[in-house]
Amino acid sequence: MKRPFAELSGTGSYAPPRVMTNDEFSKILDTSDQWIRERTGIRERRVSSKDESNACMGKAAALQVLEQNGLTPLDVDAIVYATASPDRLLPSAACDLQAILGAKNAAAFDVGAACSGFVYALNVAEGLIASEQGERVLVVAAEKLTSIMDWTDRTTAVLFGDGAGATLVRRSAGARGILASYMKSDGTLAELLYRPGGGAAHPPSEELLKDHSYYIKMAGREVFKAAVLSMADACDHALQRAGLAAGDVDLLIPHQANIRIIEATAKHAGVPMDKVYVNVDRFGNTSAASIAIALDEAVKTGRLVPGMTVMFVAFGAGFTWASMVVKW
Ligand code: UT7
Repeated sequence: MKRPFAELSGTGSYAPPRVMTNDEFSKILDTSDQWIRERTGIRERRVSSKDESNACMGKAAALQVLEQNGLTPLDVDAIVYATASPDRLLPSAACDLQAILGAKNAAAFDVGAACSGFVYALNVAEGLIASEQGERVLVVAAEKLTSIMDWTDRTTAVLFGDGAGATLVRRSAGARGILASYMKSDGTLAELLYRPGGGAAHPPSEELLKDHSYYIKMAGREVFKAAVLSMADACDHALQRAGLAAGDVDLLIPHQANIRIIEATAKHAGVPMDKVYVNVDRFGNTSAASIAIALDEAVKTGRLVPGMTVMFVAFGAGFTWASMVVKW
């Protein structure tokens, strides 16, 4: 087995205290708890308040990671921030976090890979260490999706939630760390899951607010099919690159978009569901943050303990997809 170059050290997460149930959605949209549970596995999600910005949630998760590592914000060499819902379009969410954290010695930038963002960001962090840009790279994945989803569209509104997760990537001291990873994209399918307006091509206008093109649009069924195929592809490649078989995986942490996608991915990968971490029922789809939040929960509840082999697999807008095998 390859000796890992970089390891993930410490985990943190933040979930807004406000829990919104499916029944609450059925009061404002033509939907039902039964439909949402059966089609997605979601029972509830977290909704951030005005005071819980994307960067504030990221900060809460990041501070836990620094504390576990006995570090202060001044020890951070770089912040790699994965998000599809930054507090503003310029500058980056990473710079917002750098400021409120007081990480005065850190480079800071965002990774835009939607729901695959956390796994992409871990790869970038490993690369920064390999190119000797730093030794302690804070990887934060945070989303405030409830601010950019269309609350009048039942086909998307019921799916998303808010939250943040974080970890620190540093040079591996031993057998722990990243064993293999894989990243892929297909931008020709971008318009199956996107925000049509609000960027430089379609700057904010009255029209854009009226036609709701500022919000996330998704062709659910097509995205579902692509997600299942892509996550299967990603599992195969990561295992192959790590020189491992499905039976070597102690825990699979997939992107939490839909329980049916998670089950199909686990089946393809040959990992039984009792080795799959699921929290989509409690958080819905938190895009880039989903694997980071699940990872922190898995660690804090003892589902993931040192010595285990964990595999992350993600799929999202872009399309992007990615996977990573880590010796914990
Ligand atoms: O995060 C990464 C990317 N995102 C994903 O991976 C999500 C991928 N897609 C999905 O998870 C699923 O496609 C959805 C959960 C979005 C939809 O489930 P589906 O089984 O694919 O349903 P559908 O889109 O085929 O819609 C079936 C029916 C439609 O009605 P008709 O046309 O059959 O009359 C929809 O209008 O369900 C209707 N529908 C709803 N009904 C009640 C759609 N949303 C709702 C809703 N409540 N919230």
